[in-house]
Amino acid sequence: MIFCKSVVPYIYSKLQWVLLCCFLFLAHGENIKRSDFPDEFLFGVATSAYQIEGAYLEDGKSLNNWDVFALSPGNIQNGDDGYVAEDHYHQYLKDIEIIQSLGVDAYRFSMSWSRILPRGRFGEVNPDGILFYNKILDELILRGIKPFVTIYHFDFPQELQDRYGSWLNPLMQEDYVHYAETCFKNFGDRVKHWITINEPNLFSQMAYQIAKYPPARCSQPFGDCPAGNSDIEPLIVMHNMLLAHGKTVNLYRRYYQHEQSGSLGIVLDCQMYEPLTDNVLDQEAAKRIMAFYIAWALDPLTFGDYPSEMRQYLGNQLPQFSSDERKFIRNSIDFIGVNHYATSYAKDCVHSSCSATANRSIKGFVDTSTERDGVQIGEPTGIGSLRVVSRGIGEMVEYLKTRYDNMPMFITENGYSDPQVEGEVEDAIQDFKRIEFHKMYMSSLAQAIRDGANVKGYFVWTLMDDFEWAIGYKIKFGLYYIDRQTLERTPKLSAKWYQDFLKNNTQTPTIRITESVQYTADS
Ligand code: FCB
Repeated sequence: MIFCKSVVPYIYSKLQWVLLCCFLFLAHGENIKRSDFPDEFLFGVATSAYQIEGAYLEDGKSLNNWDVFALSPGNIQNGDDGYVAEDHYHQYLKDIEIIQSLGVDAYRFSMSWSRILPRGRFGEVNPDGILFYNKILDELILRGIKPFVTIYHFDFPQELQDRYGSWLNPLMQEDYVHYAETCFKNFGDRVKHWITINEPNLFSQMAYQIAKYPPARCSQPFGDCPAGNSDIEPLIVMHNMLLAHGKTVNLYRRYYQHEQSGSLGIVLDCQMYEPLTDNVLDQEAAKRIMAFYIAWALDPLTFGDYPSEMRQYLGNQLPQFSSDERKFIRNSIDFIGVNHYATSYAKDCVHSSCSATANRSIKGFVDTSTERDGVQIGEPTGIGSLRVVSRGIGEMVEYLKTRYDNMPMFITENGYSDPQVEGEVEDAIQDFKRIEFHKMYMSSLAQAIRDGANVKGYFVWTLMDDFEWAIGYKIKFGLYYIDRQTLERTPKLSAKWYQDFLKNNTQTPTIRITESVQYTADS
């Protein structure tokens, strides 16, 4: 009794401190549990066709843009290509067993356009391509795993490039719609979540501004390419992709939705930006770059037109939607797919001088960096521009929640690439930092959900080390390690951790990633 009388009021008086400590504990990802997320929340892993399938010319698949890109020396680091990749085309059964063993609810993967329609609209459907994805879908469903299917994830038949220049040409919209409809007809009975396009914002910049992805077009000062216009082409490419998306969704809602009752979304690269300084100009710059990178795609698909900031800076360079087009692209997403990895700083270039590439209207006159006064924004990863900043995922979801009226969201990719690229298998599979990364990001996400964000699922990028586009196989994001000689799959500690996490068991040992401490530019 005496104990209660003295201790309880004491604890009560310190309650605010107890709560703060609990918050800090959680904020470091120490104790994140599956039960910190809503009951119906989906956890999964994500991959994409070209990054894992291989079998690049088997069973009727044609050459695609990445197959051809890889042929020219220098396009992909280390001379790598996706011809064999992880041999998933032959090992898909083993891979689906692995996916099931993790205990996930859902699997996000993409279909290969050139496997299903080797010549796009100009040829027949390839029955072996349909068979392959039928087998995958049936196997997933048999094992109780929900398929999230990306229709187009960066790879398309080369013929569409050679014939008419792919995404620079409005004809690509018709090809895309034809391909998407082929998918609905053949797979729509089993797919309830479709993603039309993966990261149109990243792809249009990588391929048409800085020439890192095929068809590698650009102009000065962004690079020295044989052809291209870095200030205009990314805008045209995005425009064609948005119209392709809008036409597809309208078609689905009109002819397939009733029978198939699926939902459709688009996935964006959702890099977060914070102002470099407290200065109001940098604060405006951070807002501007979000408009130029994220709202660029999402405003048209929800409100029917590009953000006003873009019109203000780009004027007539920004393509126009006709009033009919505005009607069919408006409200054309059922969910937003969020690929989030990192956060950077944004600095104003309207009122101060910047590098030649930042000082362009297509970039909204914003410069970006990962460093403030010699201090890095977060710990490095394998990709220089991606730093570990776990608060960013919460900030991103908050931004989308506010701007898009809390539309349903899925984190369709979140993952960590090891900074040390060489080393023994033993080192690669002791991936404590990957575990810590996911715990910290999940904690930030769980807090955003508690604050009301309508996030419905989280997919780890990626199931196994894969072909990371222009970087090849050097950078590793996987929960499974792949031996490049034997293609053997070995679980990393993070696979074990994810499995435990999904069982609501949090015992796997980890070390802590340091955030908000001094990482100087040289470290
Ligand atoms: C995203 C891509 C995905 C993967 C990750 C690391 O931009 O969607 O395919 O390469 O980056």
